[in-house]
Amino acid sequence: MLKPKSSNIPKPTRYQNAAIDYYMGLTNSSYLHYGYWEPLSTHGEELTLTRLRVAQSAYAAKLLSFISEGTKTVLDVGCGIGGNAVYLCVRGLGVEGLAPDALQQERFIKNTNSQVPFYLTRFEDFPTSRSYDLVLFSESSQYIAVDDLAQGAARLLSSGGYLLLADMMRSDGEYKEGIFSNCHVTSELQATLVQARFNLTKTEDISSKVAPNH
Ligand SMILES: C[S@@+](CC[C@H](N)C(=O)[O-])C[C@H]1O[C@@H](n2cnc3c(N)ncnc32)[C@H](O)[C@@H]1O
Repeated sequence: MLKPKSSNIPKPTRYQNAAIDYYMGLTNSSYLHYGYWEPLSTHGEELTLTRLRVAQSAYAAKLLSFISEGTKTVLDVGCGIGGNAVYLCVRGLGVEGLAPDALQQERFIKNTNSQVPFYLTRFEDFPTSRSYDLVLFSESSQYIAVDDLAQGAARLLSSGGYLLLADMMRSDGEYKEGIFSNCHVTSELQATLVQARFNLTKTEDISSKVAPNH
């Protein structure tokens, strides 16, 4: 796949990439998500980087618990630097990842020992004739417009395939200024997915288990 010129990457994505680079430097983790804090930290407990890494691994396990048996191939959209991909790969899933950031690409290849294909592209521009049993968005749906997400996922899924989406969501469509205002409004996302002929099979609100990282 051709490497896109940096001028093809929109400005907000470049800023987000810069923030992600900062986060990578701070945590030295192969995950770029907030983690799943179970058990929840007790009042006054220091939230250390070691504890964060445990929570991040627990989040990957949580993702896996949502993947139905029989799933063989996964497209990890906005795959970051490979933590989730490695976790799923060593458990027997055939994973491919994509993200529009060359620095993440470099880390992803290193963290996955070059065992997992990586595509340097935005999801919106991902041209493939392949199909997958599962399309995964782990804290990456918020960067992609709902129509692109729904239509792109529908196009890439094999018949009977699943979309697994774990991310921050907005319940209030009027919240438009804060740092999470790029997150999708749950009702809009659901309506767009239904239009693209998805059926909701399982949902869980894990906000309280993610909150320690906010
Ligand atoms: C918060 S990170 C999550 C990384 C990883 N999924 C995880 O759970 O650790 C968001 C990811 O979405 C990617 N991303 C941003 N815009 C994207 C787009 N338009 N298409 C695909 N990925 C995108 C970022 O480069 C980054 O890899």
